[in-house]
Amino acid sequence: MKGLLLHLASVSVMALLVACSNSDPVNTLSTSKFEAGPLRTAADRAQIRWGAAVSVNPLLMDAQYRQLAGSEFNTLTPENALKFGIVHPEPGVYDFSGGDLIADFARANGMKMRGHTLIWHQQLPEWINNGQFTRDELIAIMREHIYTVLGHYRERYADVVIEWDVVNEAIAADGSRRDTVWQRVIGDDYIALAFQFAHEAWPELALYYNDFEDNQFMLLDSTFNLDGTPALDRPKGIGASVLLSDCSLIPKCAAMRSLAEELLAQGIALSGIGFQAHIASAASADYAKLTEWVEPLGLKWALTELDTPCPVGPLDAACFAVQANTFSAAARGCLESPACDTIVQWGVNDTYSWWPGFTFDLFEDALAFGRDYQPKPAADALLALFHQHAIPGD
Ligand code: XIL
Repeated sequence: MKGLLLHLASVSVMALLVACSNSDPVNTLSTSKFEAGPLRTAADRAQIRWGAAVSVNPLLMDAQYRQLAGSEFNTLTPENALKFGIVHPEPGVYDFSGGDLIADFARANGMKMRGHTLIWHQQLPEWINNGQFTRDELIAIMREHIYTVLGHYRERYADVVIEWDVVNEAIAADGSRRDTVWQRVIGDDYIALAFQFAHEAWPELALYYNDFEDNQFMLLDSTFNLDGTPALDRPKGIGASVLLSDCSLIPKCAAMRSLAEELLAQGIALSGIGFQAHIASAASADYAKLTEWVEPLGLKWALTELDTPCPVGPLDAACFAVQANTFSAAARGCLESPACDTIVQWGVNDTYSWWPGFTFDLFEDALAFGRDYQPKPAADALLALFHQHAIPGD
């Protein structure tokens, strides 16, 4: 069912492209050029990559979305367009239409792009989920997938694409390997192999391991259970009440560190660690502390999917104030760390945030720009922070 939906989703992108091919948006999308707004200008002056995850449909259909994406960010991540099930829906069939659209838009606006993501357990096509492959066959599929996707962007967009989340969410909350098709069929070395193939396919590309932090602990008023499922029987709150910042106390974070150390010891070309930073919390995590192990390993780190949602309901100024603190605490951790130069929020504005879908309509309004496409307190807080970190003379 999920595969069918994904297939329909990719078909619908194609249909949209065909349907719109005679109208303005598609024809002008690759050349749309927007003037930099305040947040992008401040991010540029602070020499920080400030990005947004973007989706194909609103980029095609919503002029305000396009305007905001093109003016207030200097980096883009395709939210879904380069996931396995969309880009490689059938054996030997690749659909780069969505990824190329986003890369063209980034290029037209002088932005960079982070690729997301090559090897993950979600949004896989049916032929992978239902396939009965041997280890060698699945390794060959992984190699072909990585070579083809990276080969496409290396050939056409080497001026735009600077880094890629090679493996996503491979570690479970208890620090063990997540039970996925890659882990089951290939075994522990699938991660090293994925990075090896990515490096072979595009030696200059920065390669990231990306995961969520699992540092959120909920008190009894939380809307989530510890495994991340919604706690429907509990009263609504903003979510986690305590965020841990000591990596060694968080089994997943400790395992991410061990994984990074192992990969480096094997000579694997790992460049950095993406901390997703989906923060369902009124508390603030100290990202400088959480990530302090990264720089000594010679790696970089990034906030790759920053957002912090409010409970569903009327627009809530109190929640937006808390959200501003959470955004700015996380962003400050990056700005103050020499190993971090990238902060990407997971969406452009609240109209299209993934939170309502993900939480069965419990959470929404997770981003720095509102449903009215205007900056929220979180955007103001980031602006002040970027100004404080402006590089003199720039
Ligand atoms: C989410 C997208 O935002 C949704 O549109 C999609 O339905 C599911 O995936 N971690 C990740 C992202 O690495 O790729 C996920 O994106 C959010 C969690």
